[in-house]
Amino acid sequence: MIYADNNQNCDFKILYVYAGTKDEENIPRSILEIFNRGYKTCIPCIKENGEAVLYVGLGEISSFNLTRIKEVVAYSLKQLRKYNIKNVAMDISTFLKEYGIESISEVVLGIRLGLYSFKGYGTLKKEENHHIFLQGYPKEQEDIVNKEISLAVNVAEGVILARDLVNTPANKLTPIIMADSIRKLGEKAGFEVEIFDENYITENKMEAFYTVGKSSGNPPRLIIVRYFGGHKEDDITALVGKGVTCDTGGYCLKPANSMAGIKGDMGGAAAVIGAIYSLAKNKIKANVVGIIPACENRISRESFIPGDVINSMSGKTIEVLNTDAEGRLILADAVTYAIQKERAKKIIDIATLTGAVVNALGFSIAGTLTNNREFYSEFTKGYERAGEQYWQFPICDEHRDMIKSDIADVKNMGKNYCGTITAGLFIEKFVEDTPWIHLDIAGTAWVDTPIYEYQTTGATGAGVTSMYYLFKERE
Ligand code: BES
Ligand code: ZN
Ligand code: ZN
Repeated sequence: MIYADNNQNCDFKILYVYAGTKDEENIPRSILEIFNRGYKTCIPCIKENGEAVLYVGLGEISSFNLTRIKEVVAYSLKQLRKYNIKNVAMDISTFLKEYGIESISEVVLGIRLGLYSFKGYGTLKKEENHHIFLQGYPKEQEDIVNKEISLAVNVAEGVILARDLVNTPANKLTPIIMADSIRKLGEKAGFEVEIFDENYITENKMEAFYTVGKSSGNPPRLIIVRYFGGHKEDDITALVGKGVTCDTGGYCLKPANSMAGIKGDMGGAAAVIGAIYSLAKNKIKANVVGIIPACENRISRESFIPGDVINSMSGKTIEVLNTDAEGRLILADAVTYAIQKERAKKIIDIATLTGAVVNALGFSIAGTLTNNREFYSEFTKGYERAGEQYWQFPICDEHRDMIKSDIADVKNMGKNYCGTITAGLFIEKFVEDTPWIHLDIAGTAWVDTPIYEYQTTGATGAGVTSMYYLFKERE
């Protein structure tokens, strides 16, 4: 739990200090002599009056920024976790002074995400309960501080929700289970959920989606989430998230050592749900529809095989060259659904789509494509506020040529070049002229080795905060 309470006594107090500034009076001289206050350094100290303090360095004030707050807050709590300390006072005056009330959201995210761990299924695990008391704000701002805390907790919970979904094993999160848990979430957070089964999917000729979905005994579900918090006349933006709850590769089976992450192939879906959860909880003024094609990609008698030609909801035919390039197939029908059935005027699709994006950008930067500069610049504002990183790939006709098929309208992969671009361009064929942003989070949705202090091994919740702030900053 996080509280605003200037007076609470705790086991430990955290104090943040810049290098080379004059806040020395708070720090005992003996500490100053050995503590240079560099970014992400710390030293514990028992003061003469018996107060236990953890001094945490921020580095030079000129190289610090808003997003570093989240990192350094998570860092400091991880330090204290080593000593099993549960009641912590955190002096946030340094942040408030420099970054104002906006810094509260970063503090809260640093706390909640830094202390996150997946509950798991062990029978002996006990719950960790931390109480963090934010201090050092002007008394007359207490109401504002409390308000900011509760808004930020809702954002953090969106990220945590996404992490939990992605960390959940495939046998505990089939498309049906995912649909049910999203239905329950909608009741709690105040968004509408509609779930379509395989009959709807086939009746509406979503053959690209169904071709993947029918490969498994666990049937597919099309999960629709509607949050209309904006004006009636405002455009509807669709957030389309890849929800492959298990990607074995199908007949183009993945090698055993690539299968570790197969349960995490619904990171896009998880991000959509997390973002809409936060938007709804915070009653942000936006009209958003989340569209999640949820299915498994497995081997069975019903599975598709390379060489198959299939239809799609748009009527465009697709030559399947690789059954492991399944994400773009289900997304193709999902974006068509967004345009035809939900009257979406803008589309973001988000997916753990290609290994190629990991080769290109690694684990801290996601790849993007877009057909609309204006929409993308709004997204840029959103992800800069969120502190996530994205890199836009170019689109040229040469790239479009790479997925031309001799026997169908398009094929589901090119040769082994620029795989992130060709995957995105496959989806572009189905969005046509609708303003569109494509987010490939295959590298950023999961970390075996955390890159940031506010991550833990496993799911990161990538994309949630950027999509949230896209709408929030627009308000
Ligand atoms: N879900 C994978 C992409 C992926 C790879 C996600 C690594 C996370 C980590 C996707 O369905 C896939 O298998 N893509 C293929 C496409 C190829 C066959 C054209 C890939 O990237 O190898
Ligand atoms: Zn695949
Ligand atoms: Zn996949």
